[in-house]
Amino acid sequence: MSIGEYPGTRMRRLRRQPWSRAMVAETNVTPADLIWPVFVRDGVDVAEPIATMPGVFRHSVDRLPALAKEAEALGIPAIALFPYTQPDRRSQRGEEALNPDNLVCRALRAMRESGAAVGLLTDVALDPYTSHGHDGLVDEGGHVLNDQTVEMLVGQALNQARAGADIVAPSDMMDGRVAAIRRALEADGHTDVQIMAYSAKYASGFYGPFRDAVGAGGYLKGDKKGYQMDPANAREALREVALDIAEGADSVMVKPGLPYLDIVRRVSERFDVPVFAYCVSGEYAMVEAAAAAGMLDRDRVMLEILMAFRRAGASGVLTYHAPDAARLLNG
Ligand code: PBG
Repeated sequence: MSIGEYPGTRMRRLRRQPWSRAMVAETNVTPADLIWPVFVRDGVDVAEPIATMPGVFRHSVDRLPALAKEAEALGIPAIALFPYTQPDRRSQRGEEALNPDNLVCRALRAMRESGAAVGLLTDVALDPYTSHGHDGLVDEGGHVLNDQTVEMLVGQALNQARAGADIVAPSDMMDGRVAAIRRALEADGHTDVQIMAYSAKYASGFYGPFRDAVGAGGYLKGDKKGYQMDPANAREALREVALDIAEGADSVMVKPGLPYLDIVRRVSERFDVPVFAYCVSGEYAMVEAAAAAGMLDRDRVMLEILMAFRRAGASGVLTYHAPDAARLLNG
């Protein structure tokens, strides 16, 4: 019998008992790996269902302190806030992003006051506020202007930091925005506010349900291919990440998630910063639709997906399944 070949080597030996599988597991998922995206709307005591994201709601600001407490109790370290802006507050230049009393700022203050020990993350991009649905300012031809947009994004990030954001997350894909935001935060005294850069964000069909959730879908003219990345490209993602780190990003993100696991892997191998993956709205919707049709076991698939991100090297995952996954993980 030669050792190293069957029957000397039997791979199944390690898998036979639960204790052994636990002992040799290479990867784990805990609630601390989850970031919970939450949609905010105006009104009082409303939780409005989102048709394309079954189980996800737009919450009014007064309901947010309870959600922050819930995250804390579940061991979820951070919540990401996304506003559903009323149509009359949208404009060509998206000035509502700079309003110190906009939905996101009110949400931040309400959650801060709750005293819950959770990090609060805000998205930096103009699409919740523009009448054309783009992440930045557009010229007459509908082209998104880079440098003028960066100026607005700096104002937006400062507005969020002043209202209590712990992490600002630019999701707009403009060039140079991380450096500009970092400089402005330092100058304004927000030296501890982190930047989580959506560094490798692809022009993706998987954002469909999100645009419904924030009410941007109906507005969007054209597509975002002039600033978000081409799904054909992987090496370009590494350049994007390198630039954002050089500009002062504390952590980086790859988005969408599962279809871009190869990017998560390559970024996590190449760079020594925390790498997050955003398992986006379309990915959530696929799992929910298949489970509702009785085609797969929702809970099992949810945890398997999270494990896949961790195995690929992600420090954490933004996922709409965060509270349900945390409940399962907490057993
Ligand atoms: C906006 C933004 C988007 C998402 C997060 N921030 C949509 C987009 O770029 O059109 C998508 C999140 C999701 O689909 O869950 N800048």
